[in-house]
Amino acid sequence: MKRLTPLLMLLVSVLAIQSCCKQVQPVRETEKITRNWKFILDDQPDFKNPDFDDADWRTLNVPHDWSIEGEFSEDNPASPGGGALPGGTGWYRKSIYLDQADANKQIFIDFDGVYMNSEVYINGHLLGKRPFGYISFRYELTPWIKFGTENTIAVRVDNSQQPNSRWYSGSGIYRNVWLVKTKPLHVAHWGTYITTPHVSKEKATVNVETTIENNYPEQKNAELKTRLVDADGNSVAESTVPFLLESGIDTTLSQKLEVTTPQLWSTTTPHLYTAVSEVYVDGRLVDNYKTTVGIRSFRFDAEKGFFLNDEHLKILGVCNHHDLGCLGAAINTRALERQLEILKAMGCNSIRTSHNPPAPELLQLCDKMGFIVQDETFDMWRKRKTTYDYSQYFPDWYEKDLTDHILRDRNHASVMMWSIGNEVLEQWTDAGADTLNAQEANLLLNFQRDPSSLASGDEMSVNSMLTKKLADIVHTLDPTRPVTTGNNEPNPNNHIYKSNALDLIGYNYHESWFLDVPKNFPGKPFIVTESTSALMTRGYYRMPSDSIYKWPVRWDVPFSDPSYKCSSYDNCHAPWGSTHEDVWRMVRDNDFISGLYVWTGFDYLGEPTPYWWPARSSYFGIIDLAGFPKDIYYLYQSEWTDKDVLHLFPHWNWEPGQTIDLWAYYNNADEVELFVNGVSQGVKKKENGAMHVMWRVKFEPGTIKAVSRKDGKVVLEKEIHTAGDPTQIRLTADRNQIAADGYDLSFVTVEVLDADGNLCPNAMNQIQLKLEGDGFIAGVDNGDQTSHEPMKGSTIKAFYGKCLAIVQANENPGTLSLTASSAGLTDATIQIEIK
Ligand code: GAL
Repeated sequence: MKRLTPLLMLLVSVLAIQSCCKQVQPVRETEKITRNWKFILDDQPDFKNPDFDDADWRTLNVPHDWSIEGEFSEDNPASPGGGALPGGTGWYRKSIYLDQADANKQIFIDFDGVYMNSEVYINGHLLGKRPFGYISFRYELTPWIKFGTENTIAVRVDNSQQPNSRWYSGSGIYRNVWLVKTKPLHVAHWGTYITTPHVSKEKATVNVETTIENNYPEQKNAELKTRLVDADGNSVAESTVPFLLESGIDTTLSQKLEVTTPQLWSTTTPHLYTAVSEVYVDGRLVDNYKTTVGIRSFRFDAEKGFFLNDEHLKILGVCNHHDLGCLGAAINTRALERQLEILKAMGCNSIRTSHNPPAPELLQLCDKMGFIVQDETFDMWRKRKTTYDYSQYFPDWYEKDLTDHILRDRNHASVMMWSIGNEVLEQWTDAGADTLNAQEANLLLNFQRDPSSLASGDEMSVNSMLTKKLADIVHTLDPTRPVTTGNNEPNPNNHIYKSNALDLIGYNYHESWFLDVPKNFPGKPFIVTESTSALMTRGYYRMPSDSIYKWPVRWDVPFSDPSYKCSSYDNCHAPWGSTHEDVWRMVRDNDFISGLYVWTGFDYLGEPTPYWWPARSSYFGIIDLAGFPKDIYYLYQSEWTDKDVLHLFPHWNWEPGQTIDLWAYYNNADEVELFVNGVSQGVKKKENGAMHVMWRVKFEPGTIKAVSRKDGKVVLEKEIHTAGDPTQIRLTADRNQIAADGYDLSFVTVEVLDADGNLCPNAMNQIQLKLEGDGFIAGVDNGDQTSHEPMKGSTIKAFYGKCLAIVQANENPGTLSLTASSAGLTDATIQIEIK
């Protein structure tokens, strides 16, 4: 090793001192407190008491969802509409130690989401209740904390009143929990608001508003320094403002940062910066706080649709519910990331968080991966949709919940519109003054007290007023993004539209009304907040494929089909919906339509339309509940991406002589030719607006092959062989190496193959799973909407040849070994490294 000369050594130590002084010590401490909670599915008043002995309760890590651990049953009060899983009331307890050195700090606990009706206690003291299961909230613990000893947090979660949701909600502390320690003078909760009012390739203005609280007993002379730091850690702009703050007061400071040649955020290059807020009192750092920033501009245009950074972009979106299939509602960042990766590869560029505030991690991932978000708050207002839903809390809580939602999410670059409601039933009600109930009368009174909040005076119906009230809350907190709603009434007489409070017209379905939007809503931009509701079971095909099945026949009439399946050709949809092709064609071909949100990206638990029990999860997804794409995925990939696509389906295992419809989705080619056992079945091109080609052929065992060509040159070829009997299993992990952090996941696809390695498309073999090593099987699934096998088990049937095992690591590095076996099949084993 070379020796340093004395001069060099001096230089090195000076640099070291400089860089050490530059490094900011974390004066604000934010700690995830998710490990080692105690849990019981029971309810007794003394569970809140610090001296209650919880030694025999279960120990677990949150995020946790107790419903997904239960059994599917028609008798569970959530009903199949809510996923047919149990609810109930449960308690969580956790001991936290706070050092004497923390005694001069403020201590907070942050919950990202608890479903639902949570009550949080510290050392037996009730901190508060929060009915809404999707909202994030904070309590201050400081006055009740004992420093230098253990303190008991107890959380009661009441999801016993059911049904309270039109889909699967999950139950428990299903999102992350944080302990935050600050000095008495600090950036307030969700205390920054960062906007990018002027953006060009050459220059951008970044406005930063920072709210700071002083809880010292005396006034303080302080200074706020905000630096904008790029992805490589370089400060690209900074500003410092001095301020004097009285005790017990908060203030909001404005700073303007100019960035030259900014790296713009887009869906293809989602560049991010970090705003670092440092607060100094008498020259000493008392708080540092970070906000992720994306520099971008966007606008919705009534004639030309959506523009991101001045470039036209069609919003290619999907609606998703929050569950993660067999992981239930318990959020897991990797599981969310995998969903987004699958959607990204399909060409999707936007997510609607139907119909509630999402986990913060979803928005962080959308920022990072380049998704535009329609961030939605409510599925109902005052009028209920299910017996015990949020409508009962709405009058008392909507202002707080909506405010908190906007404050929490308004810094995300990905969020580009707010939806204040989905299909709220207020659309149709014209409550006149004489028919007002007490709540409505109160609302009216409030507007009369404050007439400035009412655009067209007393003529407004109560529900138009309510719309305006909600939109006003959002506009006040964030004037930079448009407010919309997902309505099912496209008529401009809808009370929501009549409020004139929406910036962006949104409605669900009703594509026959699309072309009238410019006439019905002059000057207003438009987005299809929800569309399609096509129904599919992965691997199941109903022929003839050119017959359309509208199931259920009417929305209010029970429907049944003995298969409990829906066809994977694009030929089955709900009567209020349409085929995927039909809606997408209209959106694609009309510039004024900013984009669409297909119902849904992924299948979800609950709402098993068109069926009811024994079905318990949805058929709407482009991707099934296990995360396996259905055939329709490739329609979108062929339309929404530039990559070469040729997808031929269905499989080639039928009865001899049976007439089979073969479809292909393709792009970047002029034509596709199909061969059955080497014999051409003709060359086809997409015609008359169709987005697929079809051949009707007689089945004969062997090989089918599709060849796509452009200018006579082969672009892609796809072959499918008739599979023989199942003989072996193949395991494929999405990642063979995962982190030893206790949360990371490997998604292992289990496939049943014949002796030649062909997927057996009808295989339904029961698969046994065994995991060795320091980890566990976090969930199993196969995408079958009628399966009642436990999702937390270690056995699952293959469904049309496939199933899924999710492997989770503990915190020790090593190797996990997953073995899948089934009677009559050769086992398979896969290794996953935990690093
Ligand atoms: C919509 C509704 C969604 C879902 C969907 C099913 O009307 O907004 O939440 O229920 O129908 O087709």
